[in-house]
Amino acid sequence: MQLPAELLKKYNSQAPRYTSYPTVPLWENNLDTSEWSELVKKAFQEFGSEEGISIYIHLPFCESLCTYCGCNKRITKNNGVKDPYIQALLAEWNKYKLIFTGKPKIAGIHLGGGTPTFFEPFYLQHLISSLLDGAEITTNAEFSFEGHPNNTTFEHLKTLHDLGFDRVSYGIQDFDVRVQTAIHRMQPFEKVKHATDSARILGYTSINYDLIYGLPHQTVETMGETFSKVYQLRPDRIAFYSYAHLTSAFPAQKSFEKFLPSDSEKSDLYEFGRSLLLKMGYVEVGMDHFALPNDPLTLAKNNGDLHRNFMGYTTLPSKILIGLGASSISDIYYAYAQNEKHISKYESFVMKDTFAIQKGHFQTKLDIIVREVIQNLICRKLARIPREVSERLSDDQLMTLKDMEKDGLLAINDDEITVSEPGMKVIRNICSQFDLRLAENQSKKVLFSKTI
Ligand SMILES: C[S@@+](CC[C@H](N)C(=O)[O-])C[C@H]1O[C@@H](n2cnc3c(N)ncnc32)[C@H](O)[C@@H]1O
Ligand code: SF4
Repeated sequence: MQLPAELLKKYNSQAPRYTSYPTVPLWENNLDTSEWSELVKKAFQEFGSEEGISIYIHLPFCESLCTYCGCNKRITKNNGVKDPYIQALLAEWNKYKLIFTGKPKIAGIHLGGGTPTFFEPFYLQHLISSLLDGAEITTNAEFSFEGHPNNTTFEHLKTLHDLGFDRVSYGIQDFDVRVQTAIHRMQPFEKVKHATDSARILGYTSINYDLIYGLPHQTVETMGETFSKVYQLRPDRIAFYSYAHLTSAFPAQKSFEKFLPSDSEKSDLYEFGRSLLLKMGYVEVGMDHFALPNDPLTLAKNNGDLHRNFMGYTTLPSKILIGLGASSISDIYYAYAQNEKHISKYESFVMKDTFAIQKGHFQTKLDIIVREVIQNLICRKLARIPREVSERLSDDQLMTLKDMEKDGLLAINDDEITVSEPGMKVIRNICSQFDLRLAENQSKKVLFSKTI
């Protein structure tokens, strides 16, 4: 069911993506390294043995700049950056191992970027095998990586598959040559097909494509063509992201600004893309995410078992996510921490006797309660609002919720909120009505991308 144009306009405002609560710009930065170590130990003792630990490893280097990109990356062709970075990652992991009070049990590893495949296979082999040395792996562990289709080789796929990786996510964005030229990312269909076929031959069980709507020169016609190419390759999952335009943080985005679709054209692109995905047999799992009906993500959605962390939706329930690498974020249930973004500063911290934490946040009891409300809304479309939260909502927030109910985006039933199908389109705005930290910090004028 489509959201009428006037409602799209009304609710198309800036809102966080809620991969954490509180969102990173609203963290209190009230943690020092020794408190962090204590909390890691506590979380490990409580949750480490049962659910295991998930690890996110940020590999920030890319060979060339895609001008639309909003990720933490460093563009370089210098091979000399590889060795010191891998050493730093392993030094950082060893610091965690010293804190853990037992053998770590690994529930998941995700290599993100930047471009993990910037590193030749033997670097990745050394990194992962050293990391797994002395660790246990849970029976249903998930190992995945982000691969750039242009430089993911058969050897990369094989090396990682031999190490237990069976999920790969390819950044596609769009197949149209004009769009690709504008975003400085030439990526022929044949390369994507080769990378996809190779993964399948090797036994990868889950292939994800990232696609974006709202890019320069995109029209419903170009999008139709892109989706018919996607259909030929039939990935198991598709992330269909809204293009985030934040030129103050990513000035290269200015290069194509005048070719961007208008807000209403962008919304048409989304509706068109979404309807094609549904026709192609994909199920809408949650905000931006689609998967085939028998994919574990769809099954988790159907069973109410979806979770959300810094990497988006996941089936993994682990409460401990350790982020390794420059700019990586860790979530250990009781606290969040983000590493130094500057690569050589990150390296020099972890090669000394300390973590590289640049900012952090200790979760209050109320933060933990609000986080659960937001997780339930975004993952299950249904949340009970505990009194600790409802009694703190401002008149403005309550009025907006009533307004949203009138507009058919949600239903309020005593202390329960149910999000409707059209409501999922503006789920970020719905969640933000319960974001007590955002309401308290209105004056901070934090910048988020627009919902649509
Ligand atoms: C960190 S990138 C890594 C992927 C890999 N480096 C590649 O390019 O193939 C992960 C995904 O973030 C998404 N992304 C990056 N910049 C974005 C932006 N400005 N708006 C929306 N999504 C974006 C893209 O879909 C991209 O595939
Ligand atoms: S989209 Fe991927 S390859 Fe391109 S600059 Fe961003 S992280 Fe690097």
